[in-house]
Amino acid sequence: MGAYVITGGKSLSGKIRVQGSKNSSLPILASTLLNAGKNVIKDVPNLKDIKVMTDILEKLGAKVSKSGNILEMDSSNVNIWEVPEDLMREMRSSIVLMGPLLGRFKKVRVSYPGGCEIGPRPIDLHLKGLSLMGATLREKHGFIYAEAPALRGADIHLDFPSVGATENLMMAGVLANGKTIIRNAAKEPEIVDLQNFLNRMGAHIKGAGTDTIKIDGCGSDELKPVEDYTVIPDRIVAGTYLVAAAITRGQVTLKNVVLEHMEPILAKLRETGCKLECCDDCINLTADTTLRSLDSLRTLPYPGFPTDMQAPMMALLATVEGTSILTETVFENRFKHAEELRRMGAHITINGNTAIIKGVRKLTGAIVEAKDLRAGAALVIAALAAEGETTVYGSSHVERGYERLEDNLSSLGAEIVKKK
Ligand code: EPZ
Repeated sequence: MGAYVITGGKSLSGKIRVQGSKNSSLPILASTLLNAGKNVIKDVPNLKDIKVMTDILEKLGAKVSKSGNILEMDSSNVNIWEVPEDLMREMRSSIVLMGPLLGRFKKVRVSYPGGCEIGPRPIDLHLKGLSLMGATLREKHGFIYAEAPALRGADIHLDFPSVGATENLMMAGVLANGKTIIRNAAKEPEIVDLQNFLNRMGAHIKGAGTDTIKIDGCGSDELKPVEDYTVIPDRIVAGTYLVAAAITRGQVTLKNVVLEHMEPILAKLRETGCKLECCDDCINLTADTTLRSLDSLRTLPYPGFPTDMQAPMMALLATVEGTSILTETVFENRFKHAEELRRMGAHITINGNTAIIKGVRKLTGAIVEAKDLRAGAALVIAALAAEGETTVYGSSHVERGYERLEDNLSSLGAEIVKKK
């Protein structure tokens, strides 16, 4: 199993550029199925999850070419609507292929994505919305078949502002007859990025970023390939590097950020006592020894504090003086990193979906294991601040979301190597 080996105790300093957003690139790549042409998408991060998505699209008949972070996705000859099961199992977010495939072929077959380390992850909201749009759903041998000879617009109220369900229904609505309204929609910046890409393609969508999104369906002949689109920066990766700077009491400047997207994270870092200077697309963070605990940190859908930053923040709060209360409200089982942080000397008590974190003077190096993507990032961050050497097994989880993490951290002065 691949691992990171880290010798802690070095304060990070320097500048790095933040990669493009994984959680924007994935639905945008899926949406290229709606038009039949050559799309060019820029600043797509080189990550395992992106590779799985492009492998799926190639299996469906797309032609993919890549140079650096520029992806050319030619969907002209896509003629398959059954998503390969093996690849779908590798990445649950491939469920967002349902909307565009149903829009283009009026039928789709996917396998049940099933749960993962952080929770049962049902897709009931996706399926409920698609059936309101006239799709008939059948489950057989672990597959879901959806058919909609005449996909129609519908007024859909989501029980929870699910990111994936909002993205899937937006894409299904593009080629549906009539208007689709998604109420209590997710408001994440990645939703707005998807709307902007789809509208560049010729779709008619309004309201992304608010809790009500309206899509006026159009004909496939009205959609054209997008010849030049750059995805937004990855706010979670940016947040992770800021926390790495804070936990080592260092000073780091990030370039290529959207400040508005970062605000929910910056607000909490300020509350701990980090000093932040921001300019158009960059953030400078300085942290010294006086950081303090947080009475309350609660994860919520955007613009609340992102659940994907919960694990890195737990690592930081384990090293600041005082007691912090952290509540995870989005996923049922997203505290797997707490046990591993305890191996490093952290003082964390879990009570249901609440973690009580008593800061300790110093963490100590240990052998730990990443059980999921953000948990892995949290353990790497904790190791940067710990006394001695730490081995973080499960680097493959981290590579799903962070491009060249060890190189970026080394460039900021960290002592980290990746071992196969
Ligand atoms: C997206 O996942 C992100 N993934 C996740 O990031 C992120 O944690 C999550 O949104 C929340 O912000 C991508 O964008 C690829 P949801 P998604 O549907 O779409 C429940 C990372 O680390 N729910 O908003 O799967 C669900 O169980 C990943 O990059 C239903 O009950 O998240 C969860 O508790 C991890 N029924 C909550 O809603 C449904 O049909 C939020 O899920 C759908 C979701």
